[in-house]
Amino acid sequence: MEKREQLYEGKAKRVYATDEPDLVIVSYKDDATAFDGTKKGTIVGKGAVNNRMSNLLMRLLEKEGVPTHFVRELSERETVVKKVSIVPLEVIVRNVAAGSFSKRYGVEEGVVFAEPTVEFSYKNDDLHDPLLNDSHALALGLATKEEIAAIKAMALRVNEVLKAYFLTLKVRLIDFKLEFGRLADGTIVLADEISPDTCRFWDATTGEKLDKDRFRRDLGGVEDAYNEMMQRVLGGAR
Ligand code: TMP
Repeated sequence: MEKREQLYEGKAKRVYATDEPDLVIVSYKDDATAFDGTKKGTIVGKGAVNNRMSNLLMRLLEKEGVPTHFVRELSERETVVKKVSIVPLEVIVRNVAAGSFSKRYGVEEGVVFAEPTVEFSYKNDDLHDPLLNDSHALALGLATKEEIAAIKAMALRVNEVLKAYFLTLKVRLIDFKLEFGRLADGTIVLADEISPDTCRFWDATTGEKLDKDRFRRDLGGVEDAYNEMMQRVLGGAR
């Protein structure tokens, strides 16, 4: 496989064409942003952690029947994935109140939900990724009714699999963001990444934050948190 021209550069990844029309190469950067890119920084080694962790989780999800874009890991930072057109929805699943949920609804962080919640944001930086519901997504033509139903069901299935998996590593999966894509034939698959950038992970014993909130909130120990998550994922619970 040959790496060709850069197709796209996002805040955390670059995407390259290959000599195969249905495959692209994703390259993970150490760049970190928050709050619509207004806060910028570098998390040394993040690209490698996110690449490897995301690939491991995508493989686990495939085994559990969730179709993903994953094809094969090329190197520490680079992975071959199926080419998709991204559905412009950020799909957020929450098990425990935190972040924007706590702020919006005035609920203390840490309150556990009886059932997970699923919410959508419109993936649009200029509009600051506004929250939207199913009928808004339909009205904007972002996805069909059938796609929205499939995306919600897949997101909840991902939550079941990952929540159980992370608990074996003594990590609570508080919430996370997913993105889905359409293959050339319209099939919806899980795309983007699943990593400490896109999930909240709390140590099951101490409650310590092991994710990008350490960067967003200037808590320090950002690299240590990413490395700790990588070690747990690679080595099992310790
Ligand atoms: P929130 O509480 O800020 O809405 O975040 C919910 C989850 O989504 C959290 O795990 C972090 C993740 N997330 C992203 O991956 N990208 C984003 O742009 C935002 C705002 C959150």
